[in-house]
Amino acid sequence: MLNVAIIGAGAISSAHIEGYLQFPKRCKIVAVADSFEGKAQAKIDKHQLDAKAITSYQELLQEDIDVVSVCTPPYTHAPITVDFLQAGKHVIVEKPMASSLQECDAMNAAALANNKVLSVIAQNRFKTPMMKLHSILQEELIGKIVHAQVDSFWWRGHCYYDLWWRGTWEKEGGGCTLNHAVHHIDALLWMMGKPSEVQAFMGNVSHDNAEVEDISIAMLRYPSGALAGITSSVVHHGEEQQLIFQGSKARVSAPWRVTASHSQPHGFPENNPELEELIQSRYDTLPDVTYESHVGQIDNVLTAIETGTGVLIDGDSGRSTLELIVGIYKSASTGEKVTFPISPEDPFYTREGIQQHAIHFYEKKVSVDQFQDRPITMGSEFK
Ligand SMILES: NC(=O)c1ccc[n+]([C@@H]2O[C@H](COP(=O)([O-])OP(=O)(O)OC[C@H]3O[C@@H](n4cnc5c(N)ncnc54)[C@H](O)[C@@H]3O)[C@@H](O)[C@H]2O)c1
Repeated sequence: MLNVAIIGAGAISSAHIEGYLQFPKRCKIVAVADSFEGKAQAKIDKHQLDAKAITSYQELLQEDIDVVSVCTPPYTHAPITVDFLQAGKHVIVEKPMASSLQECDAMNAAALANNKVLSVIAQNRFKTPMMKLHSILQEELIGKIVHAQVDSFWWRGHCYYDLWWRGTWEKEGGGCTLNHAVHHIDALLWMMGKPSEVQAFMGNVSHDNAEVEDISIAMLRYPSGALAGITSSVVHHGEEQQLIFQGSKARVSAPWRVTASHSQPHGFPENNPELEELIQSRYDTLPDVTYESHVGQIDNVLTAIETGTGVLIDGDSGRSTLELIVGIYKSASTGEKVTFPISPEDPFYTREGIQQHAIHFYEKKVSVDQFQDRPITMGSEFK
Protein backbone atom coordinates (compact mmCIF):
# COMPACT_ATOMS: atom_id res chain seq x y z
CA MET A 1 0.00 0.00 0.00
CA LEU A 2 1.51 3.29 -1.11
CA ASN A 3 1.00 6.44 0.97
CA VAL A 4 0.13 9.51 -1.10
CA ALA A 5 0.34 13.26 -0.44
CA ILE A 6 -1.34 15.96 -2.53
CA ILE A 7 0.44 19.33 -2.64
CA GLY A 8 -1.84 22.18 -3.74
CA ALA A 9 -5.57 21.82 -3.07
CA GLY A 10 -6.90 23.94 -5.93
CA ALA A 11 -8.85 23.17 -9.09
CA ILE A 12 -6.78 20.31 -10.57
CA SER A 13 -6.15 18.49 -7.29
CA SER A 14 -9.58 16.84 -7.46
CA ALA A 15 -8.55 15.00 -10.66
CA HIS A 16 -5.57 13.54 -8.75
CA ILE A 17 -7.60 12.71 -5.64
CA GLU A 18 -10.33 11.01 -7.68
CA GLY A 19 -7.63 9.14 -9.59
CA TYR A 20 -5.98 7.70 -6.47
CA LEU A 21 -9.41 6.86 -5.02
CA GLN A 22 -9.97 4.48 -7.97
CA PHE A 23 -7.24 2.21 -6.53
CA PRO A 24 -8.04 1.78 -2.81
CA LYS A 25 -6.10 -1.51 -2.56
CA ARG A 26 -2.94 0.06 -3.96
CA CYS A 27 -2.72 3.50 -2.34
CA LYS A 28 -4.10 5.80 0.34
CA ILE A 29 -4.09 9.60 0.45
CA VAL A 30 -2.66 10.45 3.88
CA ALA A 31 -2.01 14.20 3.58
CA VAL A 32 -3.12 17.28 1.65
CA ALA A 33 -1.05 20.48 1.77
CA ASP A 34 -2.01 23.97 0.67
CA SER A 35 -0.30 27.19 1.69
CA PHE A 36 -3.69 28.96 1.67
CA GLU A 37 -5.20 28.38 5.12
CA GLY A 38 -8.30 26.17 5.07
CA LYS A 39 -8.04 24.95 1.45
CA ALA A 40 -6.47 21.57 2.26
CA GLN A 41 -9.14 20.79 4.87
CA ALA A 42 -11.92 21.87 2.48
CA LYS A 43 -10.59 19.42 -0.14
CA ILE A 44 -10.35 16.64 2.46
CA ASP A 45 -13.97 17.29 3.48
CA LYS A 46 -15.15 17.45 -0.13
CA HIS A 47 -13.68 14.04 -0.98
CA GLN A 48 -14.25 12.57 2.52
CA LEU A 49 -10.60 11.62 2.92
CA ASP A 50 -9.01 10.17 6.04
CA ALA A 51 -6.01 12.50 5.67
CA LYS A 52 -4.34 15.35 7.53
CA ALA A 53 -4.36 18.95 6.31
CA ILE A 54 -1.24 21.11 6.49
CA THR A 55 -0.11 24.47 5.13
CA SER A 56 3.63 23.82 4.73
CA TYR A 57 4.57 20.88 2.48
CA GLN A 58 8.05 20.76 4.09
CA GLU A 59 6.43 19.06 7.11
CA LEU A 60 5.87 16.01 4.90
CA LEU A 61 9.45 15.53 3.71
CA GLN A 62 10.39 13.27 6.64
CA GLU A 63 7.05 11.43 6.80
CA ASP A 64 6.14 7.95 5.61
CA ILE A 65 4.95 8.98 2.16
CA ASP A 66 5.72 7.13 -1.07
CA VAL A 67 4.10 9.23 -3.81
CA VAL A 68 3.46 12.95 -4.08
CA SER A 69 1.20 14.77 -6.55
CA VAL A 70 2.39 18.34 -7.14
CA CYS A 71 -0.72 20.38 -8.06
CA THR A 72 0.60 23.89 -7.41
CA PRO A 73 1.27 26.80 -9.85
CA PRO A 74 4.07 26.31 -12.42
CA TYR A 75 6.74 28.46 -10.71
CA THR A 76 6.65 26.13 -7.66
CA HIS A 77 6.90 22.83 -9.57
CA ALA A 78 10.70 22.57 -9.61
CA PRO A 79 11.50 23.41 -5.97
CA ILE A 80 8.69 21.23 -4.57
CA THR A 81 9.48 18.31 -6.89
CA VAL A 82 13.22 18.43 -6.15
CA ASP A 83 12.57 18.58 -2.39
CA PHE A 84 10.38 15.46 -2.47
CA LEU A 85 12.66 13.50 -4.82
CA GLN A 86 15.61 14.26 -2.55
CA ALA A 87 13.53 13.08 0.41
CA GLY A 88 13.11 9.74 -1.42
CA LYS A 89 9.51 10.13 -2.65
CA HIS A 90 8.15 9.42 -6.14
CA VAL A 91 6.60 12.47 -7.79
CA ILE A 92 3.77 13.14 -10.25
CA VAL A 93 3.97 16.80 -11.23
CA GLU A 94 1.25 18.70 -13.03
CA LYS A 95 1.90 20.25 -16.40
CA PRO A 96 3.87 22.24 -17.36
CA MET A 97 6.85 20.37 -15.89
CA ALA A 98 8.38 23.77 -15.01
CA SER A 99 8.84 27.09 -16.73
CA SER A 100 12.51 26.69 -17.70
CA LEU A 101 14.85 24.03 -19.02
CA GLN A 102 17.24 24.72 -16.15
CA GLU A 103 14.53 23.67 -13.68
CA CYS A 104 13.64 20.57 -15.75
CA ASP A 105 17.29 19.54 -15.69
CA ALA A 106 17.41 19.92 -11.89
CA MET A 107 14.23 17.83 -11.53
CA ASN A 108 15.52 15.06 -13.80
CA ALA A 109 18.88 15.03 -12.02
CA ALA A 110 17.11 14.68 -8.64
CA ALA A 111 14.99 11.76 -9.93
CA LEU A 112 18.06 10.00 -11.29
CA ALA A 113 20.23 10.59 -8.21
CA ASN A 114 17.54 9.26 -5.87
CA ASN A 115 16.31 6.49 -8.19
CA LYS A 116 12.72 7.70 -7.95
CA VAL A 117 9.90 7.92 -10.48
CA LEU A 118 9.16 11.36 -11.91
CA SER A 119 6.11 11.63 -14.16
CA VAL A 120 4.76 14.82 -15.77
CA ILE A 121 1.01 15.02 -16.31
CA ALA A 122 -0.10 14.72 -19.95
CA GLN A 123 -3.44 13.03 -19.41
CA ASN A 124 -4.53 13.27 -23.04
CA ARG A 125 -2.27 10.36 -23.91
CA PHE A 126 -4.56 8.20 -21.78
CA LYS A 127 -7.54 8.80 -24.04
CA THR A 128 -8.63 6.10 -26.45
CA PRO A 129 -8.54 8.21 -29.66
CA MET A 130 -5.02 9.47 -28.81
CA MET A 131 -3.66 6.04 -27.86
CA LYS A 132 -5.09 4.47 -31.04
CA LEU A 133 -3.83 7.31 -33.27
CA HIS A 134 -0.36 6.88 -31.78
CA SER A 135 -0.44 3.15 -32.61
CA ILE A 136 -1.59 3.79 -36.19
CA LEU A 137 1.28 6.26 -36.70
CA GLN A 138 3.80 3.84 -35.15
CA GLU A 139 2.70 1.19 -37.66
CA GLU A 140 3.47 3.65 -40.49
CA LEU A 141 0.24 2.75 -42.29
CA ILE A 142 -0.10 6.30 -43.64
CA GLY A 143 3.41 6.31 -45.15
CA LYS A 144 5.99 8.96 -44.37
CA ILE A 145 4.52 11.87 -42.34
CA VAL A 146 4.82 15.06 -44.42
CA HIS A 147 2.77 17.55 -42.39
CA ALA A 148 1.08 17.91 -39.01
CA GLN A 149 -1.54 20.46 -38.04
CA VAL A 150 -2.04 21.07 -34.34
CA ASP A 151 -5.00 23.23 -33.34
CA SER A 152 -4.73 23.87 -29.62
CA PHE A 153 -7.84 26.02 -29.55
CA TRP A 154 -9.20 27.02 -26.15
CA TRP A 155 -11.29 29.93 -24.88
CA ARG A 156 -10.82 31.72 -21.56
CA GLY A 157 -12.54 34.90 -20.37
CA HIS A 158 -10.70 38.09 -19.42
CA CYS A 159 -11.00 37.42 -15.66
CA TYR A 160 -9.21 34.05 -16.07
CA TYR A 161 -5.94 35.97 -15.78
CA ASP A 162 -7.07 37.76 -12.59
CA LEU A 163 -6.07 34.70 -10.49
CA TRP A 164 -2.96 35.71 -8.53
CA TRP A 165 -0.45 33.41 -10.24
CA ARG A 166 -1.78 33.58 -13.80
CA GLY A 167 -0.76 36.03 -16.48
CA THR A 168 2.84 36.72 -15.40
CA TRP A 169 6.10 35.36 -16.82
CA GLU A 170 7.36 34.98 -13.25
CA LYS A 171 4.59 32.79 -11.82
CA GLU A 172 2.61 31.25 -14.68
CA GLY A 173 5.79 31.08 -16.75
CA GLY A 174 4.01 31.82 -20.03
CA GLY A 175 0.55 31.97 -21.54
CA CYS A 176 -1.53 29.59 -23.64
CA THR A 177 1.49 28.03 -25.41
CA LEU A 178 2.91 26.83 -22.08
CA ASN A 179 -0.22 26.18 -20.09
CA HIS A 180 -2.81 25.04 -22.64
CA ALA A 181 -1.02 23.88 -25.81
CA VAL A 182 1.40 21.93 -23.60
CA HIS A 183 -1.09 19.04 -23.89
CA HIS A 184 -1.12 19.00 -27.69
CA ILE A 185 2.61 19.70 -27.98
CA ASP A 186 3.26 16.66 -25.78
CA ALA A 187 1.04 14.61 -28.10
CA LEU A 188 2.74 15.95 -31.24
CA LEU A 189 6.21 15.07 -29.94
CA TRP A 190 5.01 11.63 -28.82
CA MET A 191 3.59 10.92 -32.25
CA MET A 192 6.08 12.63 -34.57
CA GLY A 193 9.29 13.17 -32.60
CA LYS A 194 11.33 16.31 -32.18
CA PRO A 195 11.59 19.07 -34.82
CA SER A 196 14.92 20.60 -35.72
CA GLU A 197 13.79 24.23 -35.90
CA VAL A 198 10.91 26.62 -35.24
CA GLN A 199 9.79 30.06 -36.36
CA ALA A 200 6.93 31.65 -34.42
CA PHE A 201 4.74 34.67 -33.74
CA MET A 202 2.77 35.42 -30.61
CA GLY A 203 0.33 38.10 -29.50
CA ASN A 204 -2.12 39.10 -26.82
CA VAL A 205 -5.34 40.02 -28.56
CA SER A 206 -8.03 39.76 -25.85
CA HIS A 207 -6.52 39.70 -22.32
CA ASP A 208 -5.08 43.09 -21.36
CA ASN A 209 -4.65 41.93 -17.76
CA ALA A 210 -1.80 39.57 -18.70
CA GLU A 211 1.90 39.96 -19.48
CA VAL A 212 1.78 36.69 -21.42
CA GLU A 213 0.47 35.68 -24.84
CA ASP A 214 -3.09 34.53 -25.52
CA ILE A 215 -2.25 33.31 -29.02
CA SER A 216 0.82 31.96 -30.82
CA ILE A 217 1.45 30.44 -34.22
CA ALA A 218 4.53 28.28 -34.73
CA MET A 219 5.97 26.66 -37.84
CA LEU A 220 8.22 23.64 -37.30
CA ARG A 221 10.64 21.88 -39.61
CA TYR A 222 11.60 18.25 -39.00
CA PRO A 223 14.90 16.55 -39.85
CA SER A 224 12.95 14.46 -42.41
CA GLY A 225 11.89 17.64 -44.22
CA ALA A 226 8.31 17.42 -42.89
CA LEU A 227 6.66 20.62 -41.69
CA ALA A 228 4.18 21.19 -38.87
CA GLY A 229 2.09 24.08 -37.62
CA ILE A 230 0.91 24.66 -34.05
CA THR A 231 -1.69 27.28 -33.17
CA SER A 232 -1.97 27.84 -29.42
CA SER A 233 -4.87 30.00 -28.33
CA VAL A 234 -7.30 30.92 -25.56
CA VAL A 235 -9.37 33.11 -27.89
CA HIS A 236 -11.09 30.39 -29.96
CA HIS A 237 -14.82 30.00 -29.30
CA GLY A 238 -15.87 26.35 -29.37
CA GLU A 239 -12.39 25.00 -28.51
CA GLU A 240 -12.18 22.79 -31.60
CA GLN A 241 -8.95 20.99 -30.73
CA GLN A 242 -7.36 18.57 -33.15
CA LEU A 243 -4.15 16.99 -34.40
CA ILE A 244 -4.05 16.08 -38.09
CA PHE A 245 -1.23 14.06 -39.65
CA GLN A 246 -0.76 13.99 -43.40
CA GLY A 247 1.21 10.99 -44.60
CA SER A 248 2.40 10.24 -48.11
CA LYS A 249 -0.44 7.71 -48.41
CA ALA A 250 -3.23 8.88 -46.05
CA ARG A 251 -4.45 11.42 -43.53
CA VAL A 252 -5.38 10.49 -39.95
CA SER A 253 -6.34 12.61 -36.96
CA ALA A 254 -7.64 13.01 -33.43
CA PRO A 255 -10.66 13.28 -33.39
CA TRP A 256 -10.39 10.17 -35.55
CA ARG A 257 -10.89 10.38 -39.28
CA VAL A 258 -9.04 8.64 -42.07
CA THR A 259 -8.85 9.76 -45.70
CA ALA A 260 -6.58 8.31 -48.37
CA SER A 261 -5.92 9.48 -51.90
CA HIS A 262 -3.90 8.11 -54.75
CA SER A 263 -2.99 9.69 -57.98
CA GLN A 264 -4.80 9.52 -61.26
CA PRO A 265 -2.54 9.40 -64.36
CA HIS A 266 -2.66 13.22 -64.63
CA GLY A 267 -1.79 13.81 -60.95
CA PHE A 268 -5.25 14.71 -59.66
CA PRO A 269 -6.51 12.84 -56.58
CA GLU A 270 -8.70 9.79 -56.49
CA ASN A 271 -10.07 8.26 -53.31
CA ASN A 272 -8.29 5.10 -52.07
CA PRO A 273 -11.06 3.14 -50.26
CA GLU A 274 -8.92 -0.01 -49.90
CA LEU A 275 -6.30 1.79 -47.83
CA GLU A 276 -8.95 3.69 -45.86
CA GLU A 277 -10.64 0.37 -45.00
CA LEU A 278 -7.33 -1.23 -44.04
CA ILE A 279 -6.43 1.64 -41.68
CA GLN A 280 -9.97 1.83 -40.29
CA SER A 281 -10.11 -1.91 -39.58
CA ARG A 282 -6.72 -1.73 -37.84
CA TYR A 283 -8.00 1.23 -35.77
CA ASP A 284 -11.15 -0.72 -34.84
CA THR A 285 -9.16 -3.72 -33.57
CA LEU A 286 -6.98 -1.61 -31.24
CA PRO A 287 -8.14 -1.80 -27.61
CA ASP A 288 -9.73 1.08 -25.70
CA VAL A 289 -7.70 2.40 -22.77
CA THR A 290 -8.77 0.86 -19.46
CA TYR A 291 -8.44 4.02 -17.37
CA GLU A 292 -8.92 7.44 -18.97
CA SER A 293 -7.06 10.73 -18.36
CA HIS A 294 -5.56 11.40 -14.90
CA VAL A 295 -6.78 7.98 -13.66
CA GLY A 296 -4.83 6.34 -16.49
CA GLN A 297 -1.65 8.24 -15.74
CA ILE A 298 -1.92 7.55 -12.00
CA ASP A 299 -2.42 3.83 -12.76
CA ASN A 300 0.65 3.97 -15.01
CA VAL A 301 2.78 5.54 -12.25
CA LEU A 302 1.53 3.17 -9.52
CA THR A 303 2.33 0.22 -11.79
CA ALA A 304 5.82 1.59 -12.45
CA ILE A 305 6.47 1.89 -8.70
CA GLU A 306 5.01 -1.55 -7.96
CA THR A 307 6.85 -3.39 -10.73
CA GLY A 308 9.97 -1.29 -11.32
CA THR A 309 9.03 -0.57 -14.94
CA GLY A 310 9.18 2.84 -16.65
CA VAL A 311 6.38 5.39 -16.89
CA LEU A 312 4.81 6.49 -20.19
CA ILE A 313 5.46 10.19 -19.51
CA ASP A 314 8.75 10.77 -17.71
CA GLY A 315 10.85 13.84 -16.99
CA ASP A 316 12.68 13.63 -20.33
CA SER A 317 9.35 13.77 -22.08
CA GLY A 318 8.24 16.78 -20.01
CA ARG A 319 11.55 18.49 -20.77
CA SER A 320 11.23 17.91 -24.54
CA THR A 321 7.79 19.51 -24.49
CA LEU A 322 9.16 22.50 -22.60
CA GLU A 323 12.11 22.82 -24.98
CA LEU A 324 9.79 23.24 -27.96
CA ILE A 325 7.67 25.77 -26.03
CA VAL A 326 10.77 27.74 -25.02
CA GLY A 327 11.83 27.66 -28.69
CA ILE A 328 8.46 29.18 -29.65
CA TYR A 329 8.87 31.91 -27.00
CA LYS A 330 12.41 32.68 -28.11
CA SER A 331 11.52 32.85 -31.79
CA ALA A 332 8.38 34.95 -31.20
CA SER A 333 10.25 37.32 -28.86
CA THR A 334 13.41 37.79 -30.95
CA GLY A 335 11.95 37.43 -34.43
CA GLU A 336 14.61 34.82 -35.17
CA LYS A 337 14.38 31.21 -36.26
CA VAL A 338 15.38 28.90 -33.38
CA THR A 339 17.27 25.65 -33.91
CA PHE A 340 17.26 22.82 -31.38
CA PRO A 341 18.66 21.88 -28.94
CA ILE A 342 18.57 25.00 -26.74
CA SER A 343 21.89 25.08 -24.89
CA PRO A 344 22.45 25.95 -21.21
CA GLU A 345 24.27 29.09 -22.42
CA ASP A 346 21.14 30.35 -24.19
CA PRO A 347 19.44 33.33 -22.47
CA PHE A 348 16.12 31.43 -22.69
CA TYR A 349 17.51 28.41 -20.72
CA THR A 350 16.73 29.99 -17.32
CA ARG A 351 13.59 31.45 -15.74
CA GLU A 352 15.36 34.77 -15.25
CA GLY A 353 16.45 34.81 -18.91
CA ILE A 354 12.91 34.14 -20.15
CA GLN A 355 11.46 36.79 -17.83
CA GLN A 356 14.02 39.28 -19.11
CA HIS A 357 13.78 38.54 -22.84
CA ALA A 358 10.20 37.38 -23.55
CA ILE A 359 7.68 39.94 -24.86
CA HIS A 360 5.63 41.44 -22.01
CA PHE A 361 2.26 42.38 -23.46
CA TYR A 362 0.31 44.08 -20.64
CA GLU A 363 0.70 44.77 -16.97
CA LYS A 364 -1.29 42.50 -14.64
CA LYS A 365 -3.44 45.02 -12.78
CA VAL A 366 -5.95 42.80 -10.97
CA SER A 367 -5.09 39.89 -8.67
CA VAL A 368 -7.60 37.70 -6.82
CA ASP A 369 -6.60 35.09 -4.21
CA GLN A 370 -8.99 32.44 -5.43
CA PHE A 371 -12.10 31.86 -7.48
CA GLN A 372 -15.17 30.12 -6.17
CA ASP A 373 -14.61 26.31 -6.24
CA ARG A 374 -16.32 25.46 -9.55
CA PRO A 375 -15.60 22.53 -11.87
CA ILE A 376 -13.02 23.23 -14.59
CA THR A 377 -12.94 21.92 -18.14
CA MET A 378 -9.83 20.18 -19.44
CA GLY A 379 -10.17 20.26 -23.21
CA SER A 380 -11.32 17.90 -25.92
CA GLU A 381 -12.07 14.20 -25.49
CA PHE A 382 -11.15 13.84 -29.21
CA LYS A 383 -14.33 11.87 -29.90
N1 LIG B 1 -3.76 18.65 -16.47
C1 LIG B 1 -4.68 19.58 -16.66
O1 LIG B 1 -5.56 19.47 -17.52
C2 LIG B 1 -4.66 20.81 -15.80
C3 LIG B 1 -5.81 21.61 -15.68
C4 LIG B 1 -5.74 22.74 -14.83
C5 LIG B 1 -4.56 23.07 -14.18
N2 LIG B 1 -3.45 22.30 -14.36
C6 LIG B 1 -2.16 22.63 -13.72
O2 LIG B 1 -2.25 22.37 -12.34
C7 LIG B 1 -1.50 23.32 -11.60
C8 LIG B 1 -2.42 24.00 -10.60
O3 LIG B 1 -3.48 24.61 -11.29
P1 LIG B 1 -4.90 24.87 -10.60
O4 LIG B 1 -5.82 25.29 -11.69
O5 LIG B 1 -5.26 23.72 -9.74
O6 LIG B 1 -4.54 26.15 -9.70
P2 LIG B 1 -5.23 26.65 -8.34
O7 LIG B 1 -4.79 28.03 -8.11
O8 LIG B 1 -6.69 26.35 -8.38
O9 LIG B 1 -4.57 25.67 -7.24
C9 LIG B 1 -3.22 25.74 -6.89
C10 LIG B 1 -3.13 25.63 -5.37
O10 LIG B 1 -1.77 25.54 -4.98
C11 LIG B 1 -1.63 26.24 -3.75
N3 LIG B 1 -0.22 26.56 -3.57
C12 LIG B 1 0.53 27.49 -4.18
N4 LIG B 1 1.80 27.43 -3.78
C13 LIG B 1 1.86 26.43 -2.86
C14 LIG B 1 2.91 25.87 -2.07
N5 LIG B 1 4.15 26.34 -2.15
N6 LIG B 1 2.62 24.86 -1.23
C15 LIG B 1 1.35 24.38 -1.14
N7 LIG B 1 0.32 24.86 -1.86
C16 LIG B 1 0.58 25.87 -2.72
C17 LIG B 1 -2.54 27.44 -3.89
O11 LIG B 1 -2.91 28.00 -2.65
C18 LIG B 1 -3.72 26.84 -4.64
O12 LIG B 1 -4.73 26.40 -3.76
C19 LIG B 1 -0.90 24.28 -12.64
O13 LIG B 1 0.40 23.87 -12.97
C20 LIG B 1 -1.81 24.11 -13.84
O14 LIG B 1 -1.17 24.38 -15.06
C21 LIG B 1 -3.51 21.17 -15.12
